[in-house]
Amino acid sequence: MIFAITCAAGLESILKKEIEIAGYQVIGSWPTLVRFTWDLSAIAKINLRSRVGNKLFLELAQHITSDFNQLFDLVSTIDWKTYVQGNPINVTAITKQSMLSSTPTIQSIVKKSIVKNILNGKEGQLPEEHDKQAIEVLVHIERDMCSILLNTTGESLHKRWYKKATGEAPINEALAAWLLLLSWRKFSEPLYDFFCGSGTIVIEAALLAKNIAPGSFRNFAFQQFKRYDQSLFDKEVATAKAKMMLNKEHTIIASDIDPNMISIAKENAKHAGVENYISFETKNISDYLSGWELVWTLVSNPPYGLRMNTYDLEKVYYTITQLFTKHPKLHGWVITSYEGFSPEDAWWTRKKSIFINGGERCWFYKKTLLK
Ligand SMILES: C[S@@+](CC[C@H](N)C(=O)[O-])C[C@H]1O[C@@H](n2cnc3c(N)ncnc32)[C@H](O)[C@@H]1O
Repeated sequence: MIFAITCAAGLESILKKEIEIAGYQVIGSWPTLVRFTWDLSAIAKINLRSRVGNKLFLELAQHITSDFNQLFDLVSTIDWKTYVQGNPINVTAITKQSMLSSTPTIQSIVKKSIVKNILNGKEGQLPEEHDKQAIEVLVHIERDMCSILLNTTGESLHKRWYKKATGEAPINEALAAWLLLLSWRKFSEPLYDFFCGSGTIVIEAALLAKNIAPGSFRNFAFQQFKRYDQSLFDKEVATAKAKMMLNKEHTIIASDIDPNMISIAKENAKHAGVENYISFETKNISDYLSGWELVWTLVSNPPYGLRMNTYDLEKVYYTITQLFTKHPKLHGWVITSYEGFSPEDAWWTRKKSIFINGGERCWFYKKTLLK
């Protein structure tokens, strides 16, 4: 079986590593997509465990299609009744450099073919139960090669469902996990987020350090498939539980200037079951300029431009650079879209990659250790 998993732009290499570590054979990676092969068990495992992926698609059919009849026939080769049982069906389409270029027509032909297949060749309306989760079918056509993909995830995996409340500019959970996987190499060493907001980075850090599957708090689209095997899912849940390392000691420290955000972050951590692994405190970043020595890693998403203009950003970012001068054993990773952050000292690197965080362009800065 062939699978395709999507991610945010720039996260592909970590996603590829994740798939390989899970023991699957990667057959290629493209911008925002990694393809791999395995059997049905991969659906439960990857949906439960992927920290940086967005949606896992099962490739149901693939063939060259140069006209709509071929597309209709390709879709009708799939036994749709093994997946759909009364669910509404949403068809989305992407087409590039292909004879079939009209996405609305592609969507309509594919839907017609699915309905006819389910109704055993008869024309008609599919009885859709609207209390059931919709099933998403993605048609991807590139240079006439058409893939029919079934979304096994449902809502994107970055929605872990532990965040019951957020602040003004929360970071996407998958992006937070990606930052941590790049930066926090030794979980035995302390991790700080001094602009923790709703707590995404520190909650993802606790999930990572304790090896808690990030999909443990939610449901997935595949659980509605007729072909869904509860025993495969139960087995993956049990394996994931057995692999948790709850007794290992970790130091994860979160603070924010806003006491409201600290309450929200604590609540979210509670929903993720990790509130006891994180120390939360209301503090201004400047409070850390004196006091105990900070060592190891800071991963933070300080306030920035468009969405958070209530802060004196110049001062906040100046304090960040001062913090690293005062604490030479601290290294850090900062993600921001604030244009005014341009630390000149040689220990800072601005990563070229640009990411979209909540619709904004973000840059990723790395501060290496002073020697
Ligand atoms: C972009 S938000 C962080 C979002 C967070 N990563 C999340 O996922 O919710 C920036 C946070 O910095 C906090 N902040 C602003 N100025 C601060 C300061 N001087 N010291 C500490 N925190 C500050 C704000 O209260 C806000 O929660």
